[in-house]
Parts: sequence; structure tokens; C-alpha cells
Amino acid sequence: MSPPLVAADRSGQRFDSAAHPDPSTSLNRHRLRSDTPSVGHLVHLNNAGASLPPRPVTERVIAHLRLEEQIGGYEAADRVAEEWQQGRESLADLVGGQLDGIAVMESSTAALHKVLSTVPLRSGDRIVVAGAEYAGTVLPLLQLTRRMGVQLDFLADGPDGTVDVDALSHQLRTPTRMVFAVHAPSHNGLINDVAAIGAVTQAAQHRPWYVVDACQSLGQLPIDVAEIGCDFLMASGRKYLRGPRGTGLLYVGPRALADLDAFPLDVRGGSWSNERDISIEPTAVRFENFERSVAAGLGLMAAADYARKIGIGSIAGAVSRNAEYLRSHLGAASGWRLLDRGKRRSGIVVVRSHTTSAEQIVGQLRKERVNLHVVPATSSPRQLGDESALRISPHAFNNQADLDRALDLLTYITQ
Ligand SMILES: Cc1ncc(COP(=O)(O)O)c(C=O)c1O
Repeated sequence: MSPPLVAADRSGQRFDSAAHPDPSTSLNRHRLRSDTPSVGHLVHLNNAGASLPPRPVTERVIAHLRLEEQIGGYEAADRVAEEWQQGRESLADLVGGQLDGIAVMESSTAALHKVLSTVPLRSGDRIVVAGAEYAGTVLPLLQLTRRMGVQLDFLADGPDGTVDVDALSHQLRTPTRMVFAVHAPSHNGLINDVAAIGAVTQAAQHRPWYVVDACQSLGQLPIDVAEIGCDFLMASGRKYLRGPRGTGLLYVGPRALADLDAFPLDVRGGSWSNERDISIEPTAVRFENFERSVAAGLGLMAAADYARKIGIGSIAGAVSRNAEYLRSHLGAASGWRLLDRGKRRSGIVVVRSHTTSAEQIVGQLRKERVNLHVVPATSSPRQLGDESALRISPHAFNNQADLDRALDLLTYITQ
């Protein structure tokens, strides 16, 4: 397939240049692009799937693998112990939390599973989840309803599709063990007000454990766990934060650190003292596993440093402008239906074409080196029904030429 010969005229809506810092936000897109080697031959708009790691991240991972090759894995881990500790501080700063609360995980789902096995649940306990919750969160919760008779309720959606916080406050008059809320879902551009959800959860008479899914917001939006008031926050490294695959983060708040152990412990989280006794690591490190990729963990920390240097506020502004640009064009074009809801919107743009399936579109654009993503209906049957959708998720390194290239191809193949 050939791309259209003449690009659509979008001259009235140009907002930046690939070659110069963005004056309105001080975002240095030139630096972002020169740190991202493949932008010259690839239009990557699947940052909600896995972003392109910037050069310092990839280099940090490779350098550690080389060190392991040269001196041995345990010896290499010892050598970077100080850097690892500084990296944990960087992760703590990124989420506005205490260093003690940071656990470096293999994925957000690994963090979720550890949380679920740690919080003591009994038959009849009630758990409530946001309507836009990710399938990977709902799956084990539904299993718990079957395995041990836990009760699972979905929070009412407000008129804009986000969690209705007043309705939640009302629902929390019934004793509730856990509340789950996704900050920015992966199948819709809405953003839930996780701080408002946190406020009513904290105020509830039987204060539930509050778990926030920040998979799509870490590295994209400012996050402040103290303001959110959560007991746990879990996130992926590979998405907007631009870390390596196989990384994630768990933040454990002070109440959870004081009242819960971590189950099951491995030799990183505890030590076997004698036949009857164990001692437990006092910090959130007890949620971690001993065996994991140190190289990937260092890459995650390098990604946190990188995002903080660029500035999360600048990244958030650029991601939002890129997403709104796509929404304004696709929303104005007759052949598209925009599915995004919410008053505040993330960098995740979800649409359906009236003529062409998301699968066909993604397949064809990939041949043109433009990466988009199919969101399967199973990622949120409550909100997507039984039909998949097309997701376009720009990052701050994407420039207008990237967006126009994708829009031109979308117009071309769906007309
Ligand atoms: C909103 C949301 N939550 C959770 C996850 C799971 O994250 P991970 O793949 O790091 O386990 C994803 C992954 O796509 C996601 O988009």
C-alpha cells in the first residue's frame, strides 16, 4: 500500500516542531527524539502497549548484562548496590512516596498478585472495582469470588464514564475490604480522579485497602501517592515511563507496611531464623522476589531518572496535546467514532472506524512502520461490548509529522 501523495492540510493546527524545544512547555522534543534512535524510521503510537525506551535506558541494561558476563551475576549485583539504592529513591520521588514503600517488581500484574495474596480475605468480604478496571485485575478477583466466596461489585460510572465518587461514598457505607481504581485505563482515554476516590475511601467507617492501578499513568501524568491516599499503587515500567519490558513498580503505603506482611515471602523479603521463626524485611522490599533481572531493574531506574529530568509536567502537556490533536481530527472526520470519555483525558485515544476493523488497520499500518494497537473487547467487555477498538497512544517524543503520517494513512485505508 502506498501512502497518500498529498498530506492533508493541517497547517492551522501546527503546534510544535521536531527541531526545536516546545516554547510553551519547555519540552525539549529535539532531545527526546535524538535519544530515541528509531524515530527516524518508525512512527510509534503504541506507548500504552510498550514505549520505545530512550537510549540511556537501553544502554544501562546492556552495560549491566555485560558486567554480569564479565564478573558474574551476584558479583555484578553487589557492585551496583549503591546505584540500586539511589534508583529506588528516584522511583520514590517519581510517585511522591517514601523510599521504604518502594518495591521493584517484574510487572504490574506481579505486584497485584502479591497484594492479593497478602491482604487477608475471607468469604463474604466485599471488594469494589472501578467500572473501567483492567481485565487483568478483574480476572483474579472473579476467581476469588468462586474460590472463596468474596463479593465483587463494580463501582457506578458517572455520566462521563469515570468513577462516580458520590455514589462510591454511598456504597462504602456497606463494609468493604478493598477498593480498586484504575487511574488511566488502557481501553479508554478517561482519567479517574484517584485522589477523590482516595478521600472517600479513607473517610469510610470500615476503611478498605485502597489499590490504584497507575500502569498507564506512571511517566505520563504527575503521581503523588500522598495526595491519592492509596495503600498500594502498582505500575508497569515499559509503558509511558519507557523502561524495559519485564519491569514494574509497587508502592506500599505506611498503613499497609505497618499492618500487613507480604505473602508469600521469598529470601529477599524475609529470613529463616530457626525452626519456628522468621524475620521479615521492614520495608516494601519484602514484596520483591530475589530472582529477577537486575539489568532490567536498573533500566527501570534509568527510565525514572530520564522522565524526571525531562519533567513529568512537560511530558504530560506534550502527550495531552498530541492526543487531543488526534482526537480533533478523528472526531471531525465522518468515518470514525471516538470512544474516549472523561472530563480529563489521557494520551490514550480509542476509536472505531465505520468501515474497517481495528485488526485490519493495525496490520496495514504496521507494514508502513506505523505502530497502533488493537484493544480486544475482552480487555473491558463492560465498556467495549463485544467489539475490539483501535488504540492510538502517542508519547511526548512524537511530533506532528508522526501524527499526520498516521492520520493520512488512516484516512487512506478506511475511505
Ligand atoms: C490499565 C492496565 N493495568 C494493568 C496492566 C498490566 O500491566 P503489566 O502488563 O505490567 O502486568 C496493564 C497492561 O497493559 C494496563 O494497561
